[in-house]
Amino acid sequence: MEDLKSELHIVGICGSLRKNSFNRGLLRAFEQQLPDHIKFTIADLSELPFFSEERENNLPETVLKLKELVESADAVIVSTPEYNLSYTAVLKNALEWLSRGSLQRPLAGKPTAVMGAASIQVGVSQSHLRDVMHALNVKLINRPIIQVGNAREKFDEKGNLIDRGVKEQLEKLKDEFMNVLN
Ligand SMILES: Cc1cc2nc3c(=O)[nH]c(=O)nc-3n(C[C@H](O)[C@H](O)[C@H](O)COP(=O)(O)O)c2cc1C
Repeated sequence: MEDLKSELHIVGICGSLRKNSFNRGLLRAFEQQLPDHIKFTIADLSELPFFSEERENNLPETVLKLKELVESADAVIVSTPEYNLSYTAVLKNALEWLSRGSLQRPLAGKPTAVMGAASIQVGVSQSHLRDVMHALNVKLINRPIIQVGNAREKFDEKGNLIDRGVKEQLEKLKDEFMNVLN
């Protein structure tokens, strides 16, 4: 079995399930900034059931996999769109699973950055998300703040980031991760 601890490992969590998601593209663009010795994995949230306290004693396989993946990570980066002036239900559901049950709070104490892209703006959703991250006791990487508004102008139709300014911000964020992990 693959030893996830043999190299530094960052896990990406995407708040959108859309195939050509801008936020998945933002995570992939972040991955491109990373040096070779850092492993990067985007968690799969697509098969997660809705959280229920009644399922906590017999965790579904997809939840266990997510918890183990996050537990194995040295750091986490979350990217989410703004839906109706908050972050998405897909992400909230994943955070609820990650906050409870066996492998208690795998995000607690973990260096974590949040960023986002949306059609118009992502400031409010990011503020909501930061509040919840405080509740989960993550070690927030607060700078640079990456909020990609007007996303349609900054990504191509396949969700690849094409904006030089955002790429430069991602490089700075990568430097912050390296400072924290070294
Ligand atoms: C239910 C819903 C609500 C949305 N609300 C907002 C919003 O409040 N602000 C905004 O900028 N875009 C909003 N959008 C547009 C999203 O930003 C856009 O669909 C974006 O591409 C989603 O991110 P993704 O490409 O990673 O899937 C909304 C989209 C949906 C489906």
